[in-house]
Order: sequence, then C-alpha cells, then structure tokens
Amino acid sequence: NLPRLLRLFCQDSTMNKPIPVIAIDGPSASGKGTVAQRVATHLGFHYLDSGALYRIVALASQQAGIAWSNAEAVAKCAKQLRLRFENEQVWLNDQDVSEAIRSEAMGKGASQVAVHQALRQVLSSVQHDFRQAPGLVADGRDMGTVIFPDAVLKVFLTASTEVRAQRRYQQLLAKQQAADYQAILQDLLERDARDKNRASAPLLMANDGILLETDHLSIVEAVERVLENYQALL
Ligand code: CDP
Repeated sequence: NLPRLLRLFCQDSTMNKPIPVIAIDGPSASGKGTVAQRVATHLGFHYLDSGALYRIVALASQQAGIAWSNAEAVAKCAKQLRLRFENEQVWLNDQDVSEAIRSEAMGKGASQVAVHQALRQVLSSVQHDFRQAPGLVADGRDMGTVIFPDAVLKVFLTASTEVRAQRRYQQLLAKQQAADYQAILQDLLERDARDKNRASAPLLMANDGILLETDHLSIVEAVERVLENYQALL
C-alpha cells in the first residue's frame, strides 16, 4: 500500500537521502544487542531489537494457548497484538512484558515461532516502521539480508559457540538466575541450527556485509569498529 511504500522509501527532508540503517546481525549471545544499542546511542539513532518482537509473539501465543508450531494461529495472533515501546520497556496489550520476554524459555519460543514465513511477513512492516530520522540501528538475524537490504552498513557480529555460551552464563549469573553452562551450550547449538537451517530468512551474512569476530574483542572495541566503518562511509 502507498503509505507504507512511502514510509519505506522515506526521505530525510533536509538531506534528500534515504534514512540510514545500520544492520547488525548474528547468532545468539554474540553481543549484538549491546553493541547495537551503544552504536545507536552514540549516533543519536533509533534502535530496533527485532528479536524482542519474536519473543513477544512467543509469549502472546503461549498466553493465548497457541502452540508455537501452529504457523497460521501464531501469525494471526501477531496481527492482533497491541504493542508499545517506551524507552527500555515493552508493553503488550497494556501489560509490561519487558522482563517476561527475556526468559530463556521465551528465547527458545522465539526461535520456534521465527521459522514461520507467515509470521515473518506480519512482523516485516512493524520493523519497517522503526525506520525514522535521523537513522536506525537494527539488530537481529535478517536485518541486512531481508528487512533492510538497502542498509548502508551491514555487520555480522559473531563469536565461537563456547564464548557465546560463557557470556550467556555470566549474564544469567549477573541477573541472579539459575545457570547451567552445559544446558546453555546445548540450547545455543540447537538455536543456531534452527536459525541457520530454516527456509525463511535463515541466519546468514549478507554478501555485502562485514564480519566482526568478537572472541577477542571487548564490547567497547566492537562498538568502535562499527562506528569506524560507518564513519568511513560519510
Ligand atoms: O538474545 P538472543 O540473541 O538469544 O535472541 P534474540 O535476538 O532476542 O532472538 C530470539 C530469536 O528470535 C532468535 O533465536 C531467532 O530465531 C529469532 N529472530 C529472528 O528469527 N529474526 C530476527 N530478526 C530476530 C530474532
């Protein structure tokens, strides 16, 4: 439809250029959320945590008694969501779900609902709506490949499975939640396999993307690399 098309190709009126998008994709626990948020803050850009959308759908489906494997019902449920994003908080039908969607169970549920093409279609327009001046940093699995193929910078942020499992383990301990390293490692392997092997928008690096291996890179260094790459384009 026309309004959406217009928004998609929206122009920054002062520059007469498309609103820039920096896409940061990568597997679970690669640090992309933290890096993307810091890059957005530094540039004064908006931030899209696309994984949160899949987590919300997993939670809403569960609350409605819909199985995560039911493609049609999950997509329908997503269409009816009333969502509100406020700073760090996410509201679903007037319920603050910011904490609830962060559980390991919802991470797992998110990766199960995310295989459905019908759902990805529904969430596609929600994600495009985040593209607002002066710019957007979007993090996820398919930001550079599917949702924002015209992103000015596409970063694929990754790390070895062991390093990612160790990071997730430390995150849970810091939040004083129960953490079992072996279970986390197993879960990451399963999630990686599901994300990489699904037919619809699988996790993969964009052809025109840059690879950022973070095994030996701190968050601060990773943020600097992204900013350097972006500034080199200006
Ligand atoms: O925090 P973590 O990286 O583990 O997960 P997330 O970014 O919140 O995403 C949760 C799940 O949603 C992923 O395992 C993916 O299966 C799915 N997802 C997706 O398919 N496409 C996106 N753009 C973002 C997330």
